[in-house]
Amino acid sequence: MTPTYDFDGGLEWWRHAAIYQVLPSSFQDSNGDGIGDLPGILSRLDHIAALGVTAIWLSPIYPSPMRDGGYDISDFIGVDPSFGTLQDFDRLLAALHARGIKLILDFVPNHSSDRHPWFIESRASRGSQKRDWYVWADPRPDGAPPNNWLSRFGGSAWEFDAGTHQYYYHAFLKEQPDLNWRNPALREAMAEVLRFWMRRGVDGFRVDASGVLIEDALLRDDPPNPTASERTPPPERQKRVFTDSRPEAIACLAGLRAVTEDFPDRLLAGEADTTTDRAARFYGTPDRPCLQLPLNFGLLDTPWNARSVAAAMDQYLNMVPSHGWPCWALGGHDKIRVAERVGSAQARVAVMLHMTLPGTVFFYAGDEIGMHQMPVPPERIRDPFEKLVPGYGLGRDPERTPMRWCPEPKAGFTTGEPWLPIGPEVGALNVATQAEDPRSMLALYRHLIALRREQPALRGARLEPLRGEDEVVAFRRESEGGAVLVALNLGGSRQSFAFAGESRVLLSTRLDRVDERSSGRMELRPDEGVVLGLD
Ligand code: GLC
Ligand code: CA
Repeated sequence: MTPTYDFDGGLEWWRHAAIYQVLPSSFQDSNGDGIGDLPGILSRLDHIAALGVTAIWLSPIYPSPMRDGGYDISDFIGVDPSFGTLQDFDRLLAALHARGIKLILDFVPNHSSDRHPWFIESRASRGSQKRDWYVWADPRPDGAPPNNWLSRFGGSAWEFDAGTHQYYYHAFLKEQPDLNWRNPALREAMAEVLRFWMRRGVDGFRVDASGVLIEDALLRDDPPNPTASERTPPPERQKRVFTDSRPEAIACLAGLRAVTEDFPDRLLAGEADTTTDRAARFYGTPDRPCLQLPLNFGLLDTPWNARSVAAAMDQYLNMVPSHGWPCWALGGHDKIRVAERVGSAQARVAVMLHMTLPGTVFFYAGDEIGMHQMPVPPERIRDPFEKLVPGYGLGRDPERTPMRWCPEPKAGFTTGEPWLPIGPEVGALNVATQAEDPRSMLALYRHLIALRREQPALRGARLEPLRGEDEVVAFRRESEGGAVLVALNLGGSRQSFAFAGESRVLLSTRLDRVDERSSGRMELRPDEGVVLGLD
């Protein structure tokens, strides 16, 4: 029997949403300091609305020393002056809502900046009231760190504090001390942060690093990673058994969800470990729900050929529990851009796949014009990852370069010196030029998002995989309103695809042959994907 995936879904706004991730520093600068800001985003709402997205997700806007792209926060309820003010934020939110677009914020519960007043107070003395708001431990008898835990950004995850003779734990940079989620007062303070933003009207959150909120209470050593070699970046040479996706962390997420449930229609998405069998836990259980949408980057992490992609879809859809809901992310500020990952020709196929799968989709600003990894010369590197773990290509600057709005050297992003280089070939790789071209990547994104919204079969939750030959991935989507067939050629040669019945082309990745009819067999050109309406 053919497997069919189906999910029970309610009518919540986020179920079929297309969510657009905006990195504030790289979207649009309004005051010439070279850093994107909130008034800049406000000035680009026409672009966001023309995409047809349901919501935007804003990466951190909070006051920050910017040691880790704003993920090192020194005040959870403010706006960094380089991005604007709280009033600018309110204006942006109101303008988005006026256009029917929702806004979700990044919420970073795992750590603060070492400049956060809480940490300054915590490290002041062992007796400090906020001592226990962070994770402190005694040195081993020889003065060494408490155990072998590694920071994701390289080296020991423990930093010695000479003033109080203890180590504090940091899953990321030493300037990002981990908050102690075992402490009830800390938990309540963070709940209050969520309430602060929800009262202002935000529609939900993307929970940063949600699996690492709590570490093993016994501080047991992490074991070596048996699949690691010398090509594995040193921080990945241990398995994070005692430092990631702990049951205690999942319980914290249930607590956060309970906070958002006090407000109507809020979404809790989050960064989670979706590569292992632990992934399903992030949904929680029907009685104790956690994240509505643990982000799934499976499509980007899979070798780009028909068999691997079909297997990745199958594996993921099998993993999502029946009370869960699928979601797919095809890019982000930590990930290689899809146009780089699969090449420009296949990027169109990848995007068609992404937008026709059941569930919620997340995509990253710049991907809609096919931006690739931009070269960043060593003297302009901003991301500490590359500096701390050099030589493995881990730096995330190339996917964080400024958005390109028009064919000018500064791409319409700024009048000043951009914080990261714009990169070469602004040529056609910009919004204005592509908006004029009915066959551009931008045009494809707009058509696909419209199709997702308007085609009843794509709004349903059913997916029936079909058996494709050679380089073809194919599946059927069906609901009471009708059926469509999606056939994608992941290769560079012509392919054909057989199916039962009569069809009509609703969309081709090449944005031609609309309404072409075929019966029983479909010819796919190299690097072409099609969505077919079935009679
Ligand atoms: C998440 C963010 C990443 C950041 C890290 C530490 O993984 O996506 O950009 O470096 O958390 O906050
Ligand atoms: Ca600015």
